[in-house]
This record gives sequence, structure tokens and C-alpha cells, in this order.
Amino acid sequence: MDCLVNLYAQPLATLAARVEITEATIRVALPPEQHIIKDWVRRHFSEYWVSEVTAAMAHQPPGCLIAVVEGELVGFACYDATARGFFGPTGVAEEQRGKGIGLALLSATLQAMKAQGYAYAIIGGVGPVDFYSKAVGAVPIPDEGEDIYQGLLRLKPAQEAQP
Ligand SMILES: CC(C)(COP(=O)(O)OP(=O)(O)OC[C@H]1O[C@@H](n2cnc3c(N)ncnc32)[C@H](O)[C@@H]1OP(=O)(O)O)[C@@H](O)C(=O)NCCC(=O)NCCS
Repeated sequence: MDCLVNLYAQPLATLAARVEITEATIRVALPPEQHIIKDWVRRHFSEYWVSEVTAAMAHQPPGCLIAVVEGELVGFACYDATARGFFGPTGVAEEQRGKGIGLALLSATLQAMKAQGYAYAIIGGVGPVDFYSKAVGAVPIPDEGEDIYQGLLRLKPAQEAQP
């Protein structure tokens, strides 16, 4: 399911104030470090998300933001990857979850989209809807199963790389 976020509504401003004290440094990823990011995303998440990072890193400014703690990559978030105006994918290392890093990445990435001229962001193929509805007032977009991901090619289970 996709969800819609109004980038001019109060929840995004409220979130920006709330995430100010995150211990992670949130910044735009640089092209020379993309092999490190992709390797990390492959180990923690999936080859599909590596492909989306590749698309997000193929434009300027790069559409991938990262979270760094003590020089280590701990999370990432993309926009304009699968489609223009789309937020995602995003992920935080399991041992770093629950510390506000996912929200800080979400806030910084949506602010970057707003700065690029978007008035709304679409969270593509949402997993945790509650995370986005609570954080930025995201609302589900009715789609009857007809969305950009329909018919997406997928590896057979035996072809999936073992993490
Ligand atoms: C979703 C994800 C990025 C959140 O990162 P995180 O750093 O743990 O999130 P935060 O600590 O910033 O979250 C803080 C708030 O979000 C809520 N939250 C976190 N994960 C949630 C989830 N999966 N569902 C609902 N709420 C969630 C927390 O309860 C917390 O709420 P509170 O502030 O009211 O207590 C992380 O759980 C993750 O990497 N998940 C696996 C990948 C994934 O599902 N990505 C999203 C694809 S659309």
C-alpha cells in the first residue's frame, strides 16, 4: 500500500523539532561511499533495496540520506528511487532501532523532498503504516492493488541471496 504525506502540514514541522536531539548524524550520502551503503543495505535488508539505492544515488543531489553513529553507518532513507515523489526505502540497523534514528531519517528526507519542490510525498509500498501515520500524518492511498509495484519481477526463493 502507498501512503500520502502533506509536506506543508503541521506534523512534519512537529517532527523536525522532535528529532533535533538524535545521537546520529543525518546527512546526504556522497557518491564515493555508495558501494559501502549498498553493501550495508544488502547485508541488513535486500537486493531490491540495493537496486533502489542505486536509482536514488543516480541523480543530483543524491536521493539517499544516511545515519552515522561514531563513524558507522546505522540507517538510510531514499527518495525519488522507484518513482519521482516517492519516499523509501528506509531502514535502521536492528540494534539501533527505537532510538529515534528512523524518525530523524524520515524528517530529514521529507524536508529534502520539500526543498526539491514537492508539496506531497508518497510513501511507496508501506510496511509499518502506523509508523508513518503517527510520525507525519500519512494516509493510505486507495489503489485496489493497482500500483507501480504490480507485476514487479522477483527472484524465486532459491535465487534469493543469503544475508
Ligand atoms: C521502521 C524503522 C525504519 C523505524 O526505525 P527506528 O529507528 O526504530 O524508529 P524510531 O526509533 O525513530 O521510531 C520512533 C517511533 O516510531 C514507532 N515505530 C518504530 N517502528 C515502528 C513500526 N514498525 N511500526 C509502528 N511504529 C513504529 C516507535 O514506537 C516510536 O514511537 P513513539 O515515538 O511514539 O514511541 C525500523 O524499524 C526499520 O528499519 N524497520 C525495518 C525496515 C522497514 O520496515 N522499513 C520501512 C519500509 S516502508
